[in-house]
Amino acid sequence: MKKVILIGFMGAGKTTIGRLLAEETNQSHVDFDDLIVAEIGMTIQDFFDQHGEEAFRKIETDILAKTLAKEQIISTGGGIVLKEENRQLLKEMPLVVYLKTDPEELIHRLKADTGSIRPLVVSKSPEEILAVYRPRIPLYEETASLIVETTNKTPEEIVQEILIKAGA
Ligand code: S3P
Repeated sequence: MKKVILIGFMGAGKTTIGRLLAEETNQSHVDFDDLIVAEIGMTIQDFFDQHGEEAFRKIETDILAKTLAKEQIISTGGGIVLKEENRQLLKEMPLVVYLKTDPEELIHRLKADTGSIRPLVVSKSPEEILAVYRPRIPLYEETASLIVETTNKTPEEIVQEILIKAGA
C-alpha cells in the first residue's frame, strides 16, 4: 500500500482514522503531535505558552521531512499546511488525504473534546475557531491528492472510502 498522509483541521479525525487505517492494513502509524511532544519534552500547550507559535511551526517543519521518509501512515497536526515549504514536501508524497469536515461538525467535536488541550482552540468561541479554519481550507485542498468528506460518516466508513479510492 502507498504511504498515506492525513491532513485536515483539528477535530477532523486524523488520529482516529490513521490508527484504524494502520490496523486494517497492517502498516505502521505515527501521530505527528506525539513526535513533536517527544521532541519538545513538554505539552504543546506549554510550548506555545513559553515559546510561541512560530517556534512550534519551526519544529513541525524540522520533523516533517524525516517523518515522511520513514513512516507509512502519518496523521499530521492541523497546521502542517500553513507553510509553503511543508505543502511542497507533502505534494511530493503519493497520497495525501484531506479529511474534510463541515465547520459546524468541527465546532461540535472540538467542544466535546475536553480531554486534549489545543492552544489554538482552547477558550475560543466558535467564531474565533472558524476564523482559524476558513483560511486554511484552500491550503488543505491544494495540498491533498484525495479529499474525503467525513461529516456524518463513521471512522470505519471513512477508512473503507480511503482504501477504495486509493486503490489499495
Ligand atoms: C494545531 C493542531 C494540533 C497541534 C497544535 C496546532 C493547528 O494538532 O499540532 O495544537 O494549528 O491546527 P491536531 O490537528 O492533531 O489537533
